[in-house]
Amino acid sequence: MTKGRIIYTENVKKSLEDFCAENSFNQLVFICDVNTEKHCLPIFGAINNLIVIPAGEVNKEIETYAFIIKNLIHLKANRSTLIINLGGGVVTDIGGFVASTFMRGIKFINIPTTLLGMVDASIGGKTGIDFQLHKNYLGTFALPEIILVDTNFLKTLAAEEFKSGLAEMIKTGIIANALLFNAIKDGIEFEQLISVAAKTKSEITERDLYDQGERQLLNFGHTIGHAYETYRLNIEQPIKHGFAISKGMMAETRLAFALGMINEDELNTIIDFIAIHTQQKELSSEDIMAISPLLSMDKKNSQHGIVFSLPTGIGKGKAKVGIMLNEIQKILLHA
Ligand SMILES: NC(=O)c1ccc[n+]([C@@H]2O[C@H](COP(=O)([O-])OP(=O)(O)OC[C@H]3O[C@@H](n4cnc5c(N)ncnc54)[C@H](O)[C@@H]3O)[C@@H](O)[C@H]2O)c1
Repeated sequence: MTKGRIIYTENVKKSLEDFCAENSFNQLVFICDVNTEKHCLPIFGAINNLIVIPAGEVNKEIETYAFIIKNLIHLKANRSTLIINLGGGVVTDIGGFVASTFMRGIKFINIPTTLLGMVDASIGGKTGIDFQLHKNYLGTFALPEIILVDTNFLKTLAAEEFKSGLAEMIKTGIIANALLFNAIKDGIEFEQLISVAAKTKSEITERDLYDQGERQLLNFGHTIGHAYETYRLNIEQPIKHGFAISKGMMAETRLAFALGMINEDELNTIIDFIAIHTQQKELSSEDIMAISPLLSMDKKNSQHGIVFSLPTGIGKGKAKVGIMLNEIQKILLHA
């Protein structure tokens, strides 16, 4: 069986039982946050081993990591244990990081419960936590055994979380798949959109698991988006990941236009599309100034400046575009 395979199901409990029957784990441990414990866990019936973490990005950090490890030790988890990450991107990122480092790595599966998780975060094997508010500074590449997607979980998801998830789908459409972009525009059936977006991410990450080339395209919106997300965490006004990425994509689309990578029609189409679907505004000049020091600390930076993945049209893009900070400011402060 290929690792990281996505299985769509309408009966997630049965699918989990089937997977466990094909394997020999001595113990299953669920990791949830407080919301997925309440809304998603009950479908699995009585659970023996459960670790519940507080919800939200501020908790995707080292103390929560240590808390989970302590609990695993308490539960006598070992290398034959299966970790089941049941939650959005925060749970699958931290749960995957725990699984890939505990006793040098134990098996895990992801059961995404947010739209963002189903189309992006649970797929592709990037795990990690933030460190002192630096986004995803500690992490590993480690694929889950499988990813079980049951869209019934979305019934309890807040409307704002939907928009946040849509932002990552739009990102994949703009930078890698024009058909996905058009499908979102045409409003095709949501379940179908999820599988197209997930398949696009999955295929790209299969070709480039370690983020050396093509996968970097999926960082579109993330250089500026992560800096803005970090800034908002710093001032204790967290913003949803997808919303930070929306703002990041709009700013980075302006960079692409200034560099002559897209024409004015494409600039307007992309920016309007993002703004309408995610209902986010572009970053202000104050925001650009506030995030500038954080941009200089981005983990992708090189001697060619701050590194971006930018669109070269709709459905295509270019990775590893280096731009100096003063140039970025010049473009974005006068946009
Ligand atoms: N590893 C990757 O490749 C990758 C890709 C994209 C994003 N991410 C990460 O994903 C994270 C964002 O993920 P997210 O948007 O899913 O956030 P999240 O995990 O914080 O979930 C959002 C909120 O929804 C709640 N929730 C989850 N499922 C629910 C349900 N079914 N019903 C009701 N409430 C529910 C959560 O408790 C939380 O409050 C960020 O940390 C980001 O860095 C990782």
